[in-house]
Amino acid sequence: MNRFTHLIDLDDFPVSYIEKIVNLGADIALNTAKYSEYCKDKVLATLFYEPSTRTQMSFQTAMLRLGGTLIGFDNPETSSVAKGENLKDTTKVVSSYADIMVMRNPVEGSAKAAAISADCPIINAGDGGHLHPTQTLTDLLTIKLEKGELENLTIGVCGDLKYGRTTHSLCKTLSKFSGNRFVFISAPELAMPDYIKDICEFKEIYSLEDALPELDMLYMTRIQRERFTGTTMPQKYILTKEMLAAMKPDAIILHPLPRVDEIEIAVDDDPRAKYFLQAKYGVYVRMALIIEILKNEYPTKLLSGEFSDKICENEKCVTTKEKYLPQSFSRKGDTIFCDYCESLITQQQIP
Ligand code: CP
Repeated sequence: MNRFTHLIDLDDFPVSYIEKIVNLGADIALNTAKYSEYCKDKVLATLFYEPSTRTQMSFQTAMLRLGGTLIGFDNPETSSVAKGENLKDTTKVVSSYADIMVMRNPVEGSAKAAAISADCPIINAGDGGHLHPTQTLTDLLTIKLEKGELENLTIGVCGDLKYGRTTHSLCKTLSKFSGNRFVFISAPELAMPDYIKDICEFKEIYSLEDALPELDMLYMTRIQRERFTGTTMPQKYILTKEMLAAMKPDAIILHPLPRVDEIEIAVDDDPRAKYFLQAKYGVYVRMALIIEILKNEYPTKLLSGEFSDKICENEKCVTTKEKYLPQSFSRKGDTIFCDYCESLITQQQIP
């Protein structure tokens, strides 16, 4: 067991803890000034190895609104990462300067790898195509405030469901609330991974128009060009103003942003379009998260230490890049998966 409560994956926490953060976020949205001294004398480090607008700046705003201060980089080329410093050494040093550290990194499993050597709590702000748990907290607060409930919803998730880490985190978490069902809308080559389908009640369809009438919420995403490895770009989905007539009057439209062209600008004026509000709510829920993580109520279990003689075959896994990391896998039912990136071990490796 690690000494700190890290947010690597929302799955590490009971649903009651997630609800506690969301409810605190709702209170902070109404009474922001009440929390203005909570992090006086605390330092937040933001290490962004990948571009970001919302996640980075909303964390920075959150810490400033809690009365704390900031250090960090938003371009690894301006840090000693450019000289070849590994993740362990950067984490070890920066976590000795800060009380809490937020990291975005293009490598899957990197937040967990950082947590192993960190001397403060680590928050995963996106690890490659794997997870983006603080976006999920933002989405949950938006759903709570705009729909009033987190249960019994029909949720359309559209776009790049293969590489879209926001959709993976969101579906994993919303599937824990009762009565939620999903409609996955994507091109076949960008379909939702099996490990998410295994835990959801879902159907898959290819037509966005056909899906719209039954949805309580539509979650649009962009195609992750930076992660797509195919040669021809798959079919694009674009939500147009004309298509809104088919949606329920009280449905909501979310998007983690950035938008490219998957939602027409004309949709922004529709009262069901909540994506800019969603970005704003990200500050409040991240304030709540910082407060709760610093209480250190759930020290995080990081590695099982099992099957350390096996090798993760995911070329995007942090163990491929940071060779000093111990291999570690966990068993869930009949499957064995990497503790860093959650890739399943292949049949040949199963003991
Ligand atoms: N939603 C989100 O993660 O946005 P950024 O990439 O701008 O942080």
